[in-house]
Amino acid sequence: MRNHRVVVTRHGGPDVLQLVEEDLPEPQAGEVRVKVLAAGISAYDLMFRGSGSFPGSPRVPFTLGEDVVGVVDKLGEEVSTLEEGQTVAGATFCLGVGGGYTEFICLPASELVPVPPGVDPAEAVCLVVNYLTAHMAMHRTAKVQSGERVLVHGAAGGVGTALLELGKLAGLEMYGTASKYNHKLVSALGATPIDYRTEDFVERIRDLTGDGVDVVFDPIGGARQLWRSYRVLRKGGRLVWFGVAATKNEGLRVIPLTVLMRTLLALIPDGKRAPLTADLGKDNAWYRETLAKSLDWLAEGKIKPVVAGRFPLAEAARAHELLERGGYAGKVVLVASA
Ligand SMILES: NC(=O)c1ccc[n+]([C@@H]2O[C@H](COP(=O)([O-])OP(=O)(O)OC[C@H]3O[C@@H](n4cnc5c(N)ncnc54)[C@H](OP(=O)(O)O)[C@@H]3O)[C@@H](O)[C@H]2O)c1
Repeated sequence: MRNHRVVVTRHGGPDVLQLVEEDLPEPQAGEVRVKVLAAGISAYDLMFRGSGSFPGSPRVPFTLGEDVVGVVDKLGEEVSTLEEGQTVAGATFCLGVGGGYTEFICLPASELVPVPPGVDPAEAVCLVVNYLTAHMAMHRTAKVQSGERVLVHGAAGGVGTALLELGKLAGLEMYGTASKYNHKLVSALGATPIDYRTEDFVERIRDLTGDGVDVVFDPIGGARQLWRSYRVLRKGGRLVWFGVAATKNEGLRVIPLTVLMRTLLALIPDGKRAPLTADLGKDNAWYRETLAKSLDWLAEGKIKPVVAGRFPLAEAARAHELLERGGYAGKVVLVASA
């Protein structure tokens, strides 16, 4: 049997994604080989593919994909926690930029969490990065309390929909910015939608709430955006910035300006805060426990991730085109051919 893997051959548009055939990878000690059923595509993948100047962008050739769900196909030596045939989910952080766009991948057993039976692999893969990012932002960084008011930017995106689902479970009052075509979804997920393209969200939040919100989750970035997000906080409020979606329209210069603005905002002694979120891959015990709990919630029907589209591995370029075009909601997933 041979492996097929999608490789970024040079930086550029979706057409630089090439499917290559190679020998099956062999698991090292402590690793297992996983036959991938679903691999997530993230906004970062487009940034890494598009430019070698994006911070952390690896040298070509490389394979993208930071989250996978699949079946354990072969055990390396010294693995006692997993069995062949078991379905598992996990992140590829330990490999650097990724590696998930492939039929087979070898990962340390310590990075993988068993998936309960009957769970859709495409839904499960949404949990690994998006729901954990949302969980980290909501519970470890913002430390939300039931009844608090939050504004979620990019509310119909992969992380945004996860924040809304977790926010509902946490008993929050929610507002979400999204394009008009996504407002029905944002409402269905329990938030009051705000059209960031045609409305001033600062004014809308003032009109809707009076004194503002307790937390803003901002994956958009940009100095002006962060300043405006900070302004809608009421006393004791927290601005949680965790992404740079604004680079899509404004380019890489957004990144240093966003970092500078967050640092300045954190220095203002006005009772509001702008805490930094921790890296998902840093705390393995938290990562495993939170992913396992999220998978249980999925199996119990407490959460239902929004899958924007499912594409066969060989059509990764078409999936990237969808992300570039926009107009979708939730997470785009590569799935194994039947
Ligand atoms: N720190 C971490 O661990 C971590 C992990 C994952 C992601 N991220 C960051 O989070 C960002 C979002 O990731 P994602 O996977 O959720 O991306 P995504 O699925 O592409 O969602 C982003 C959404 O943001 C919306 N949007 C774009 N510009 C906006 C604006 N000015 N105001 C409000 N909404 C806007 C768009 O929605 P509409 O179609 O409704 O316009 C878009 O679909 C990424 O860029 C990445 O930087 C960080």
